[in-house]
Amino acid sequence: MRFDLKGYFSLSDDASKFKDDIKEFVTNINEKVLKKDDAEKSACIDDFRVEKNKFYIHITSGRYYRAHNALLQIKNMLSKKLGKKHHVGVRDIKIEDYKIEFELEKKALDPISIPFAKVETKAKQAVIILQDVSEEFLRKNYIDRMITLVQEKVQNQYYEGKGEFWKLIWESKEKKPVWSKDPTEEMNKLEWLKQGPTKGKWFYRPQITAIFRAMEEIAINEVLKPLGFKEIIESHMVPFDIWLKTGHMEGMPGEFYYIAEPASRDVEKWQKFIDLTKITKEIPLDELMKNLSIPSAGICYAQCPVIYWSFKGKTISEKSLPVLIYDKTANSARYESGGRHGIERVDEFHRIEPIYIGTREQLLDLREKLLERYKHVFNNLLDLDWRMAWVTPWYMQQAGKTDEKESKDCGTIDFEAYMPYRGSRKKSEWLEFQNLSILGDKYIKAFNIKAQKSNLWSGCSGIGLERWTIVFLAQKGIDPKNWPKGFRKYLNELPDGIEFM
Ligand code: SER
Ligand code: ZN
Repeated sequence: MRFDLKGYFSLSDDASKFKDDIKEFVTNINEKVLKKDDAEKSACIDDFRVEKNKFYIHITSGRYYRAHNALLQIKNMLSKKLGKKHHVGVRDIKIEDYKIEFELEKKALDPISIPFAKVETKAKQAVIILQDVSEEFLRKNYIDRMITLVQEKVQNQYYEGKGEFWKLIWESKEKKPVWSKDPTEEMNKLEWLKQGPTKGKWFYRPQITAIFRAMEEIAINEVLKPLGFKEIIESHMVPFDIWLKTGHMEGMPGEFYYIAEPASRDVEKWQKFIDLTKITKEIPLDELMKNLSIPSAGICYAQCPVIYWSFKGKTISEKSLPVLIYDKTANSARYESGGRHGIERVDEFHRIEPIYIGTREQLLDLREKLLERYKHVFNNLLDLDWRMAWVTPWYMQQAGKTDEKESKDCGTIDFEAYMPYRGSRKKSEWLEFQNLSILGDKYIKAFNIKAQKSNLWSGCSGIGLERWTIVFLAQKGIDPKNWPKGFRKYLNELPDGIEFM
């Protein structure tokens, strides 16, 4: 790795008078501060010159003590040196030209571009070329992140087009489906639900609502309560700084529903909007935009980020471990584009999300217990045709990465079910109706969560009510007579619907 930086310090006065002092300073720094035994750990002032109140400098370095970090350190030392003896201050740093050369793991397949710099790649070599860089830019660590971003973009070129990671863990016996119709279509005909009022949303009438609530009760009574999970209630409006920490902000900015606050609730400021609305009976959108703030939050995408936020900076007592909680009130919103279908792929959905924080051992043990409870529900109560597979961890998918899986301890298990209306059991695509993850210390670190003694890990599991329901109905039909006994203990008959003429 090679860093090659050309820039200058602006000084408060002409320093050409004491060139000799500066020369001595440079020699000294080169010998005593920048030079190390290992070239990768060294930096060097290759060249310098003083012109009036500008001190031009050319620094090269290896991987560990990067030229821009050397520059910042030299600035401090120079301030001391010139200040004490000559009463000259160092005002500003300007980098005119900065070239960073580094090795790629694999060669880039296509040209790479990133903000703030030009990138050139040749074989397994990349060069980032920056011009006109400020001190602030250096101090904020942008450079290091730009190098990482180039490496990540090259990596991603290899993932594109590759299938997702998927490895079967377990599958149920084949079950004979009751029918092979698309449940949403059938329920639509029967007026159990209604699409809308906007894209990917549904209005659920009493019959299907009763089924959702039965599913919810099953999840709570058969899985969560027996394992000691307790309910919490969170906000479903998620400020950006939370998503910045979880990685969602860079992973799926195109999938959020954004929330804009009013710029003011002062009626006077809204008067024109009100008057225009009264006269035109249309919404004056331009006028509306004037009265809105830029979004700074979005609607819940997954429930866990806000739960982690609630533990931010806290030290959890050993006696509260593992922390086992769940939220069932925050609705999730995801902007789907082409993929919407029935109630299984929607923009707004209802989930219960248990999350768990504890030691590695506690969480591995909990995973076994959760799997056992889930199996009990899907086998004994819902009698599903389903399977489990290791998949790319959800936080990687949600950070825009694909073909990876963590170690054996960490990662995501997807639960998938056969959807008879989609075609043959072997060839058709099964529906993911739930997931379960252990995520190591990723979010523990991101939110600086601690325990008295133990090292903490965390994880979560997404229980989608729409998904549980559609999978069940796709296999068992919508007539309660055909439903398995286990489920009928929770919902034996449907409430009367509303009759329309
Ligand atoms: N956070 C996980 C997900 O988004 C589980 O809810 O799928
Ligand atoms: Zn989660």
